[in-house]
Amino acid sequence: MKEQLNGILETAKASILAADSEQSIEELRVKYLGKKGELTALLKQMGSLSPEERPKMGQLVNEAKAQVEALITDKAKELKEKATELKLKEETIDITMPAKAVKRGKLHPLNTVLNDMIDIFQSMGFDVVDGPEVETDHYNFECLNVPADHPARDMQDTFYLAENLLLRTQTSAAQIRTMETRKPPIRVICPGRVFRADEVDATHSPVFHQIEGLVVDKGITLCDLKGVLEQFAHEIYGSDTKVKFRPSFFPFTEPSVEVDVSCSECGGKGCRVCKGAGWIEILGAGMVHPNVLRSCGIDPEVYSGFAFGIGLDRLTTTRYKISDIRLLFENDKRFLEQF
Ligand code: PHE
Repeated sequence: MKEQLNGILETAKASILAADSEQSIEELRVKYLGKKGELTALLKQMGSLSPEERPKMGQLVNEAKAQVEALITDKAKELKEKATELKLKEETIDITMPAKAVKRGKLHPLNTVLNDMIDIFQSMGFDVVDGPEVETDHYNFECLNVPADHPARDMQDTFYLAENLLLRTQTSAAQIRTMETRKPPIRVICPGRVFRADEVDATHSPVFHQIEGLVVDKGITLCDLKGVLEQFAHEIYGSDTKVKFRPSFFPFTEPSVEVDVSCSECGGKGCRVCKGAGWIEILGAGMVHPNVLRSCGIDPEVYSGFAFGIGLDRLTTTRYKISDIRLLFENDKRFLEQF
């Protein structure tokens, strides 16, 4: 029986050492130590031994069991470590690999041009102010010297939400609000969305954008207006751009002018961009009407000012040679991705 035990022990040791997977070590555990295992079977044969031999043999078998048990545990541990190591090696992350590109959005061309405009005017000392898109008749028209029966209302027909509530037709309303809350000297621009009941075509949209400017202080004259607008035109279109002032009419300015710049595309010879005129109209402006100053509690005997209104959409379409204003509002990615 002793020999049998030694035999079992030898083969067990050899096969444990040779085991190469966690599964095969588990099979060996069952084979030697399980309920029907070889060592267990040996214990069951003890009955055939003499009473003196029994405890000795029992001890030997138990020692052998413990030995096999320890060997199996060690080997199992070793195999497990190896497996983990292998797994880690297989799953290594190569941090030098180029990352997946994140798709970055872009600014809408209107915003790009607006940001440029804000930079230009801020460098001349203007603040940026905001106002509501839903305005009262009072701020959009009355305070701007356009009473209810004024014919100029026809040019700026809009969308009414209630008797006295409308979508603003010009950001000039925000200038009135500014004059009510700030004391001169005032130097602000008001960029924003405006609305008019216009038919949609390549150059008209019921929604468009303005940047209006306002300066109020003592001793402000038309010269200041010319200086600021010329500077602006040179920065936007280049320093050899010529600027032309034509007399015009706005109810809220007196005198009023319309401002053209020489076409940056053809230099004034006439082309498709300027429709052969050589000039592009970019804004309306003028000296703030005394009635407007008065309606905001500013004494026109002491203070004077100028205002101007620039169409952001026109500026953007001419800069990027966009043939149809509707493209700016359709949000077609194929169009927007080009900028
Ligand atoms: N608010 C005028 C418009 O929308 C533009 C303008 C602003 C003209 C300021 C003069 C002075 O047509």
